[in-house]
This record gives sequence, C-alpha cells and structure tokens, in this order.
Amino acid sequence: MDSGEFRKHAHELVDWIAGYMENVESYPVKSSVSPGEIKSRIPDIPPMQPESFSTFMKDFEEIILPGITHWQNPSFFAYFPANTSPPSILAEMIIAALGSQCMIWETSPAAAELEEKMMVWLRNMIGLPDSFEGVIQDTASTATLAAILTAREKATDFSINSEGAQGTKALRVYCSGQAHSSVEKAVKIAGIGRKNLIKIPVTDDFSLDPGRLREAIISDREKGYLPCCVVGAIGTTGTAAIDPIRAMGEICSEYGIWFHVDAAMAGTALILPEFQWMLDGREYIDSFVFNPHKWMFTNFDCSAYFVKDASALIKTFEILPEYLKTRTRGKVNDYRDWGVPLGRRFRALKLWSVIRSYGVEELRNKVRYHIQLASRLHEMILAEPDFEIMAPVNICVVCFRYRPSGVDEEQINALNEKLNHLLNDSGKLYLTHTVLNGRYTLRMVTAQTDVAIGHVERAWKRITDTARSFKN
Ligand SMILES: Cc1ncc(COP(=O)(O)O)c(C=O)c1O
Repeated sequence: MDSGEFRKHAHELVDWIAGYMENVESYPVKSSVSPGEIKSRIPDIPPMQPESFSTFMKDFEEIILPGITHWQNPSFFAYFPANTSPPSILAEMIIAALGSQCMIWETSPAAAELEEKMMVWLRNMIGLPDSFEGVIQDTASTATLAAILTAREKATDFSINSEGAQGTKALRVYCSGQAHSSVEKAVKIAGIGRKNLIKIPVTDDFSLDPGRLREAIISDREKGYLPCCVVGAIGTTGTAAIDPIRAMGEICSEYGIWFHVDAAMAGTALILPEFQWMLDGREYIDSFVFNPHKWMFTNFDCSAYFVKDASALIKTFEILPEYLKTRTRGKVNDYRDWGVPLGRRFRALKLWSVIRSYGVEELRNKVRYHIQLASRLHEMILAEPDFEIMAPVNICVVCFRYRPSGVDEEQINALNEKLNHLLNDSGKLYLTHTVLNGRYTLRMVTAQTDVAIGHVERAWKRITDTARSFKN
C-alpha cells in the first residue's frame, strides 16, 4: 500500500469510525453468533497475492462485525466497561503510526517521560500520596502479579529470584472471597500455590472482615507460614464492595506484610472529592492499581500501577542483557524493569489526550453522572415489589434479582438465569450476573462512556416487561 492509497483509505476509515460511533446503538449489544460461525467464514490458507483494502473492509463488515459485542453501545451494562472516547481513539491512531516500542528511555525518551508525568497527574487526581511512583501496565491482572511477585521477594529477602523457592517457608497471600480472580491467578503464577491464597470472609456488605484477616494471619504465623501479601479491593467485581483499607493496612503494618490494593474499576471514582474516603488509610498501601481503560475513557489497554517503593519493584524485575545497556541507565526510568514484558506500547499518549481533552472537571462530571444513574436505577428497582436489591449500591454497580412471591429459592435462581439470557439475546442491552450467598444475582454497571438516563430507563422497562411475561 503506497502513501497515496494509505491516505485515501485512512480518510475513508475515519469516516467509517465516526459513522460507527454515531450509529453504535443500532448494533445488537451482544453478538449472537454461534461458536465456530465466524471461523468457518475465514479461509484456512492466507492469500498468496495482494488483496485490496476495500475487499478487507467488505469482509470486515460482513464477517467480523456480526461477531463483535459492542462495548461502546451505551446499553452495555455488563462486567465492567472497557470505555473508549474520541480523544483516546485519535491518540491510538498516532501510537499505531509511530509504532514505537518503548521498552527503555532510549527507545523513545518522550514516551518514558510522558509516562512518568501522566502517572504523576493520575496519582494526584486520585489522591495517592506524593511518595508513590507509577508505571502503565497492560492490565490490572499484570499489575497484581507484579505486586505479588514483589511482595514474595520482599518477604524472602529477594532470595526466590536468585535461589528458587526451595527451602523457604510456605508463603501466604490474603484477600476477600469477593476479590477478583486475578489475585488467584497471580498466586498460581508466582509459585506461591493456590492453596496458600486465603480467602477471608466478608461482612454483610461484601467487604473483607478485618477481624477475620487478623485471626488468619496470627494462626498462619503460629503454624510456621510466612504471610507476604494482603490484597484489598476498592470496588470488587461482583458488587463494587469497598474493603476497609485503614483497618487492613494497620494489620499489614503490624505484621510487616505487603499491602496491595486493587481498584481496577472504582479507582476512577477517586477523582471525586466525595469518594476520597475510600482511600482512608492510604499511607499503609504499598502498591495500588486502577484501570483508566475501564472507566476513564482511555481505550484498552491502560492500567495505572503505583508503588511506594519503586526500588523493590525494579529489584524484582530487572535483568540487564548486554544489548540493553545504555549510557542513561540510572538517570532515567527504563520501564522494562517495572514489570513483566520487555516491549511496551506508547500508552501514555492516550492518557495525555484524554485528560487534556476532557479536563479533570469534565471527567468528574461524567463519572458523577454515571454514579447518579446507578442511584436512579436503585430507586426504580425499589419501586418494583417483584424485584429486590441484593447488595448495597456502591458507585455504579447495582445488584438485584427478580423475586416473585410464592416461588422457592431454586426456582428464583432459574428464573433469573432465564431472564438474564433472554435480555442479552434481545440484543437491546447486555448485563451479567454474579452469585451472592448462593443467589443468582443480576448486575448492572451504569458506566459506559455515553450511557444516559434514557438507556437505563429503557433497560429497566425491558427487564420488568420480560420478567412479567413469565407470569403469563
Ligand atoms: C476488581 C477487578 N480487578 C481486576 C480485574 C482485571 O482487570 P484486567 O482485565 O485489567 O486484568 C477486574 C476486571 O474486571 C476487576 O473487576
């Protein structure tokens, strides 16, 4: 493709993208294709001769688009969002054009220095102490892995990195039973062993019970285990429960345990002064992650990982082959030493574009509005006698279920599962579920970039109409 052709197709494509964004609501939110359907339409062998971009686009529209779930549709209420926004897309286009691989300062000084600055902006926006330094990771899962590996090394005087795990005491990691599965994954990968992840019971509001955490740590120490990391959640995946950071931090500090906080989704709400209480006890935190790629309108992937002691992180990850030795080492941030991958995308540019385009006040307005939508939905549910709220409504997550009178628990679970599938198959909205105390629970997250009250009202009407149709 020569530059003339590129220019022509790029202009066409920008038109296509703008049209897609304008019309995203006309697509079914959740793709309804069957397994294997898309694969069967793609040839088994690649073309031997060049094909035109127009042919590629035609196939993209005909074959691929039907198999896409439209996360940017404002009626996407499932999981947590993976929001994008126009300024993020524009920056992503530049990132792709530059094609920079930003593994070390020297391979793109601007990328390293902009990343350093963006992490300072974000740190101050969410109210972490000035002592924290940040790095962009691909995902929260990677950041939590980095935290657990660093905790493992700190607890063993960096001996597992050099000697392997033989002969060390069995390590223990703690989180609540509502913590994200990435904690369990990290514990597995870090060689700590899944059985050494202790899931602490939660209280009525689904947040970790600090008394039970203390008991578990004391008991483990008595049995000869080495507690190395506690993971707290600000906004669990199921209900957006907020763990008691201060109480957990005090326990970690008392027993010399690394305290990691996973705020993947809810971290963005910390830009609101009225949600700063969630970070009470911040001085005890060793590492913290949140995802601008969820709720800060910065397209996937972009995870902000902060550490109080960057030297412990670097000591855990650094490796210095000859070809990566530079004259600037030690004077600049070489982010390859701050996590698992060597190669790194220029993600800071997206953040720079998004934060400047919205400005902090407008980001706050959007996030606040999403939180208000959750309150409105909460009120609508309370007004329906056949429905019940299943967990405190935190931030932008509303958990509820259909509970018609005279139906037993088992049937209620089955009805809600059926309701969930029918709603999602309609293509008009997408929501997901969790199970709380054995109860199948529907869960709606009102935080898609462009969600407005009309989307929530229409979704709620469809939910109640569909549920009522069961009675007929
Ligand atoms: C609380 C929490 N932590 C971690 C993750 C994992 O995020 P990522 O996809 O960035 O690894 C999620 C995903 O939804 C989450 O809800």
